[in-house]
Amino acid sequence: MLQDVETILFDQDVLAKRIEEMGKEISKDYAGEEVVLVGILKGASVFMSDLIRQISLPAYIDYMVVSSYGNSAETSGVVRIIKDLEDNIEGKNIIIVEDIIDTGLTLAYLSKNLLSRNPKSLKICTLLDKPVRREKEINVDYKGFDVPDEFIVGYGIDYAEKYRNLPFIGILKREVYE
Ligand code: IMP
Ligand code: MG
Repeated sequence: MLQDVETILFDQDVLAKRIEEMGKEISKDYAGEEVVLVGILKGASVFMSDLIRQISLPAYIDYMVVSSYGNSAETSGVVRIIKDLEDNIEGKNIIIVEDIIDTGLTLAYLSKNLLSRNPKSLKICTLLDKPVRREKEINVDYKGFDVPDEFIVGYGIDYAEKYRNLPFIGILKREVYE
């Protein structure tokens, strides 16, 4: 797997430090309240499990599965809910936890969908952001890092289901997917 990675962008230490900061910020912003983290599977699972341990509030976990790139490196623009939330989110503080925002189509759809269920509040937390690729404007409340317009893998993020277990975030070599 390592030989397929062009560059390491963020290693384990850098990720851990930034996620600790993000957890502290969330804990401060919602002081005295409870939060529900809605992780978008599968990509956000690794980030989610590290983030929630840096939050010093009562924090609950739920997950959604939405359609994504499949085995291709290009987005289809079609968003489908494959697995919905288990719990009712009405009156709750919801934080959507994403691995990476690219075109923004997934989150634009999800935000609208979750808002229609009348949460008390809805915020977006993403580990990575590729702002140059944005097609739909997204209000990102918590962001780990910006990344360049390259194919990113590792720390939960895949290409064709591979590379999720790399402990760092890296750029995939073009020859792997072209
Ligand atoms: P969007 O709807 O275009 O913003 O796409 C968001 C989803 O596409 C993310 O949750 C990822 O699952 C996937 N994605 C976007 N960019 C990358 C990447 O560079 N590597 C792997 N997956 C990506
Ligand atoms: Mg994803």
